[in-house]
Amino acid sequence: MTKFNSLKSAFGIGLLGAVLTLGACSKPHPDVKARQDMMKNYGDAMKVMGGMVKAPDTFDAAVFKEQAVFLAEDSKNPWQHFENKDAVGNATESVWAKTDDFKMEAENFQQATAQLNQVAQTATSAEDVKPAFGEVGKSCKSCHTEFKVKDDDEK
Ligand code: HEC
Repeated sequence: MTKFNSLKSAFGIGLLGAVLTLGACSKPHPDVKARQDMMKNYGDAMKVMGGMVKAPDTFDAAVFKEQAVFLAEDSKNPWQHFENKDAVGNATESVWAKTDDFKMEAENFQQATAQLNQVAQTATSAEDVKPAFGEVGKSCKSCHTEFKVKDDDEK
């Protein structure tokens, strides 16, 4: 029985080690966490605005403006968190291999959000913001196509 017990405890320690290693891996790099948190907020803002664009009678100028201001002001922030090559997250290697292209996507995004913000300041209907909103959506997508690892539910 002693042999069995010591085997069992060795196995136990092995398992514990595996759990600890997994724990270390699932804790994201601070840069990855920072930029993913920002991107999540982008997703939320786009959902709020997109809902109004899809259902124009729900358009609320004040709420739309608030989201547009947020996007425009925050649009310069995520990119500093893509400098460390060890912070891979769900970024593709193109982020570091094609830095000029990535920078261009980030700049296009800042322009698109600035434009949307400008339009939103005087918008009174979903119709007013639709084209500029569409450009922002395209900009998210365009960057994700090359620089973000695909989610399982994306094509
Ligand atoms: C210049 C490139 C670029 C632009 C523009 C961009 N993203 Fe991203 N986004 C990324 C990259 C790269 C990732 C993967 C980050 C990671 O996991 O490390 C990402 C991740 C995300 C995620 C997943 C976050 C998570 O929790 O893992 C969401 C949601 C997202 N983006 C939404 C948006 C929305 C909405 C917009 C437009 C309003 C946008 N992004 C604009 C590059 C971009």
